[in-house]
Amino acid sequence: MIEKNGYIRDLFRQPLGAPVAALGWVKTRRDSKGVHFIQLNDGSCFQDLQVVVEAGAIPEATLLHATTGACLRVSGELIASPGAGQAVELKAREIHVYGPADPATYPLQKKGHSMEFLREIAHLRTRSNTFGAVFRVRNALSFAIHKFFQERGFIWVHAPIISGSDAEGAGRMFQVTTLDLMNVPRQGGQIDYTQDFFGKSTNLTVSGQLEAEIFALAFSNVYTFGPTFRAENSNTPRHLAEFWMIEPEMAFCDLDGNRKLAEAFLKDIIAHVLDHCRPDLEFFNKRIDPTVLETLEHVAASSFEHVTYTEAVRLLEKARDQGRAWEFPVFWGADLQSEHERYLTEEVFRKPVVVTDYPKEIKAFYMRLNEDERTVRAMDVLAPRIGEIIGGSQREERHDVLLSKIRAQGLREQDYWWYLELRKYGTAPHAGFGLGLERMMMYLTGMKNIRDVIPFPRTPGSAEF
Ligand code: 4AD
Ligand code: MG
Repeated sequence: MIEKNGYIRDLFRQPLGAPVAALGWVKTRRDSKGVHFIQLNDGSCFQDLQVVVEAGAIPEATLLHATTGACLRVSGELIASPGAGQAVELKAREIHVYGPADPATYPLQKKGHSMEFLREIAHLRTRSNTFGAVFRVRNALSFAIHKFFQERGFIWVHAPIISGSDAEGAGRMFQVTTLDLMNVPRQGGQIDYTQDFFGKSTNLTVSGQLEAEIFALAFSNVYTFGPTFRAENSNTPRHLAEFWMIEPEMAFCDLDGNRKLAEAFLKDIIAHVLDHCRPDLEFFNKRIDPTVLETLEHVAASSFEHVTYTEAVRLLEKARDQGRAWEFPVFWGADLQSEHERYLTEEVFRKPVVVTDYPKEIKAFYMRLNEDERTVRAMDVLAPRIGEIIGGSQREERHDVLLSKIRAQGLREQDYWWYLELRKYGTAPHAGFGLGLERMMMYLTGMKNIRDVIPFPRTPGSAEF
């Protein structure tokens, strides 16, 4: 059995003089006048354990391999540290090298790697300060999300990954097929999907919402939390082809209730991460974005702004009339672009803004039509730096209105037969939203590229690891 004292995180709380063993990977090593200082980290916390090797304490042959990147077990005694930066350190009596890392070729050296380079070594970037912090925060965030919903009686629904319908009606799906691409069966000029694995054409899901609606109309309050896929060819710092989404869906809820839940939700998960990931957030604040902590604390304590789409357009037109140059033209009916979203959140309101009641033409088929018959009960939550972080709506619960919208958007009615039946049997007003986990991660950490807040990013032209 491998003898160990638990995580490095817990060693810091052991009494001085305690004999301990620490296991981890060498982050850096410094040699000075016969004494060696090894920073050891096992991912359990931001702080490295400083291992001190006094002259002659460990055989040279062993020390030769205890270099940056090596995996070690160090046993010894906890002592008060005379140096700055840590209260205790581990005085080494014995070192076992599980796996050396040749300093001549180990790619993760102490300084100066770009995020782009680190992405190319995603199998090793996990051992860096930045990515250690990113993935601990991602873990705490995921836990906080479950906690928020579980404490409110929401049922977690596992929506399918393989789907037969386009939940957003936007046609940006990855196809799933076992057909022989060199010899695709055809019938009357069309691909014959009856010969495909499922006997029909299928794709990776873009959203679990439609399935969540089924569950909401039986369990009242539910949420999904899983991967979703979009084949949009947008090579931006905010888009992934595979990302994680959290989609609560509530029966007996309207747009106001939806908006209030979204606000309470975001504040609650921010507060949880502030409480549980301080050292990691302090690192982001120091090294990635000096406004992160202040912003999060401010947001957790203040209320979100709410404007309708029509009011938002008025603000943007006013800015234009005062000389602001928009790359994308602003007029009632145009979709809000990133520059517009950032203007509203960063310059006008300086906090998250919920925009509601968009024109029906620019939103998905399932959103409830307003009495004006021009707008739908949509809501986007926009955050400074990020833009859209949540998209949601009250759903169209009236069968005939929904059917005419499916037809008007040119969707295949037969793909949505069960979705329509939910409106025939025991329909109820209901609403929900989707939070992009990685967009939330960007907000929490200040990381500038969405590829750096997910373990293995999938983007156009890139699916390594
Ligand atoms: O606004 P979206 O497309 O809404 C839906 O999918 C609804 N079905 C949600 C619902 O009402 N249940 O996506 C929701 C969120 C966005 O606000 C954004 O945060 C994130 O998902 N998102 C992406 N994140 C990363 N990469 C992409 N390509 C994303 N597309 C959407
Ligand atoms: Mg959206």
